[in-house]
Amino acid sequence: MADDPYLERDDVPSPIDLRDREAARAWLADAEARRPYRVAVRARIAEEIAARGARRVVELGGGPGLLAEAVIAASGATYTLVDFSAPMLELARTRAPAARCELRDLRDPRWMDGLGAFDAAVTMQAVHELRHKRRAPRLYEQVHALLAPGAVFVVCDHEPADARPLFMTADEQRAALAGAGFGAIRAVMTVGTLYVIVAVRRP
Ligand SMILES: C[S@@+](CC[C@H](N)C(=O)[O-])C[C@H]1O[C@@H](n2cnc3c(N)ncnc32)[C@H](O)[C@@H]1O
Repeated sequence: MADDPYLERDDVPSPIDLRDREAARAWLADAEARRPYRVAVRARIAEEIAARGARRVVELGGGPGLLAEAVIAASGATYTLVDFSAPMLELARTRAPAARCELRDLRDPRWMDGLGAFDAAVTMQAVHELRHKRRAPRLYEQVHALLAPGAVFVVCDHEPADARPLFMTADEQRAALAGAGFGAIRAVMTVGTLYVIVAVRRP
């Protein structure tokens, strides 16, 4: 996108603009139809958050609020959903009215300013949307700074299907999380193209 201040030369262009209302709605319909197992992934993440008793949860790239809805229902936690798409946040406000929706770009070096502290962070199919995997280590350091010691970080994304520097393997995720100060890193689910990794913020 020509007006994108964070675009860099080696970024992998996106085929869709998720900040466009029609594109956001189309993505939602397609994702849920094409990957029905996303329901089970959301349930597994919600179970993890509820089991750990997290009271304050932040989601990165929460989009239409499907995961917010599942986590809030399972845990009753207060929920902050960060996304850079106003139309996605409109959908989230309808689906998960209890969530605090924050319009922020995760590539902005100050995206976390003023958000507060959290007992858990979650993200699903969103880290690759930063359009280059080199951005993940810094993102994870920022998440580490938002989390209380012992807090959990749950990362779900796609295994790469090609050589583009976009999607990260589960091993690449482990390395980025460990480098950012997370430990007890384990994959808790793999289904379809998706993996779910749980990590704990070291003190
Ligand atoms: C593929 S969708 C996944 C949405 C949601 N996590 C789900 O699984 O239903 C990716 C989401 O990340 C958001 N996103 C993409 N780039 C972003 C950025 N730089 N900062 C914040 N959010 C971003 C998009 O607006 C979109 O809502």
